[in-house]
Amino acid sequence: METPSAPATEIVRHSDFVRTVHWLIAVCFLLAVATGFALYWVSILSWMQPFFGGPYGSIGVHFTSGLGLALLTIPIFFAWRKRMRWTATDSYFVRHLREHAMRPEQVPPNDTGFFNGGQKMFFWAFVISTVIFLITGLVWWWRREPWMPPGVYPVCRTTHRVLAVIMTGGLLVHIYKATIGEPGTFASMVKGTVTASWARVRRPGWFRELDGGK
Ligand code: HEM
Ligand code: HEM
Repeated sequence: METPSAPATEIVRHSDFVRTVHWLIAVCFLLAVATGFALYWVSILSWMQPFFGGPYGSIGVHFTSGLGLALLTIPIFFAWRKRMRWTATDSYFVRHLREHAMRPEQVPPNDTGFFNGGQKMFFWAFVISTVIFLITGLVWWWRREPWMPPGVYPVCRTTHRVLAVIMTGGLLVHIYKATIGEPGTFASMVKGTVTASWARVRRPGWFRELDGGK
């Protein structure tokens, strides 16, 4: 379908509420990463522990930020779950990343909606991993309780650590794609709006849904 030309206006992309929740999630996640790795990689990162009040302070900050992360995931899940439904265009996008997502000037397929396939994958990985972090983290927290079945804690501990490495890698890709990897995107999470031409070129399917695009 042909995409209409863009008026020179700003379009609301992220509400105040969504932006606030997103940045609180970022703070909680980064605190959990910093304290988690400071506890895990003692030989290299233990110098970070005093910033969080020593080893016990780091565990406390980690547990609290982890619970905060899990709580904040609930509103962002409900705010974005419909926009994150997978489409045939998303499958096409992830199969053709070389043509559509390797350089900042490349643009996604013409039917790309509010989020592209890569963003949807990151969203679902984030939601599912937070649930797993929560379950495995609570098992870790309650590992010495008499009711904890033997063998559960070592499995959960390894899962928690491996997932931490995977999601920290995913976060680096997310930060790159949300800033220099797709110019104009970062501003939308700060001031809430994008230019109409950004929407037309970067998310043509969403642009056509908007009044200005009709
Ligand atoms: C979602 C809620 C989360 C909860 C409830 C939680 C809870 C915990 C607990 C209780 C520990 C054990 C601390 C100790 O006694 O030494 C731990 C360790 C750890 N967590 Fe989390 N966590 C959560 C999220 C995360 C996230 C998001 C990351 C990083 C992406 C992460 C990375 C780590 C790492 C690397 C360790 C290993 C520390 C060590 O080996 O001593 N956690 N977590
Ligand atoms: C700390 C640096 C971060 C920056 C600069 C950043 C930036 C952004 C931006 C600009 C968007 C909007 C994308 C769009 O409108 O198309 C976004 C969306 C999103 N952010 Fe972040 N974010 C950061 C941290 C995080 C963290 C720690 C998480 C959770 C682990 C997270 C999860 C998400 C998710 C799930 C989305 C929607 C899907 C996507 O765009 O990939 N962000 N972020």
